[in-house]
Amino acid sequence: MPLDPTPVPDELKGLRIALLVAGGIAAYKIVDLASALAQAGAQVRVAMTASATRFVGAATFQGITGNPVLTGLWSGGDEPEPHVFLGDWAQVTLLAPATANVISRAAKGQSDDIVTATLLAARGPVVVAPAMNDAMWSKPAVQQNLAALRATGVIVVEPESGHLASGHVGTGRLANAAALMKAMVDAVRSRYDLVGRRVVVTAGGTREPIDPVRFIGNYSSGKMGFAIAASAADRGAQVKLVTTATHPVHHGVEVRQVETADEMFAQLEREVPGADLLVMAAAVADFRPTRVADHKIRREDTPRLTLQLEQIPDLVAALGQEKDVRHVFRVGFAAEGAE
Ligand SMILES: Cc1cc2nc3c(=O)[nH]c(=O)nc-3n(C[C@H](O)[C@H](O)[C@H](O)COP(=O)(O)O)c2cc1C
Repeated sequence: MPLDPTPVPDELKGLRIALLVAGGIAAYKIVDLASALAQAGAQVRVAMTASATRFVGAATFQGITGNPVLTGLWSGGDEPEPHVFLGDWAQVTLLAPATANVISRAAKGQSDDIVTATLLAARGPVVVAPAMNDAMWSKPAVQQNLAALRATGVIVVEPESGHLASGHVGTGRLANAAALMKAMVDAVRSRYDLVGRRVVVTAGGTREPIDPVRFIGNYSSGKMGFAIAASAADRGAQVKLVTTATHPVHHGVEVRQVETADEMFAQLEREVPGADLLVMAAAVADFRPTRVADHKIRREDTPRLTLQLEQIPDLVAALGQEKDVRHVFRVGFAAEGAE
């Protein structure tokens, strides 16, 4: 438990949060913040400048967050590009304490360490919380650099006035945990309106087998379902994509690969109970062969082939009958021919 526990706003629970820590005395306060966020259910990953590791050990953050800590561009473990991974992963990024040095380098767009490179690679909103000696804080260079960051959309949480580590009294103390969390909430509110929501999307045309090498399919590309899933993930939802199609997968989307309407239905029965929204963008076949041949139907033995087809039950309607699914908001798509 932190010495001074600060309640974590609901909006941050369940979010993926990157904490970028620079080399200031206030780095120790970010340990408490990371702990509070992690205990409240947020996923937290930390990256530190080399100077920051002189103030707080990476092992402390690793123990608290349960995730490996990035301490350099070349320390990413399995991640070939750790800054890109973290920038993609994070739904909100907090740089705290932001030293005068890291603010200057970020304002210039430098990316020569894990913290500045992650700031540049961040796809979500960025919050910067400066902390430094009052004389440093008052220098035009620092204020100009912060103005440059603000101009790029970065949210700056102003430091507080009071007793500073240097023994001086003035402005420069890191904003308190409640202010840092409020700034993160403000940053994500407009951007992530689906946080905490579970969304299931289907994509692609089903493939109904004729024999082990042939199927009846349709022209659905699956792009619509992939785009909907990506958009829901960008808005903070937890997204499962049940698909027959294969396209590059958007960060935050979990893919369940299927082929036939039956497989899609079985997967949906697993994924949809408890979800908030089901978007059926897949083109599920209306008909399938009544019988699937065990072996490849040989052309030489088959001068004429007549396939008998049976109707496939409407998946959305069938799912809607299930008790756990009735409350799920369901959206279906149907291709209509010109009449
Ligand atoms: C004991 C000590 C405390 C420091 N505290 C701060 C601080 O609170 N804010 C700050 O901007 N710089 C502080 N500095 C200076 C930074 O550590 C220094 O500028 C360093 O290069 C910052 O590196 P980074 O921005 O890559 O983390 C401190 C230095 C020392 C030795």
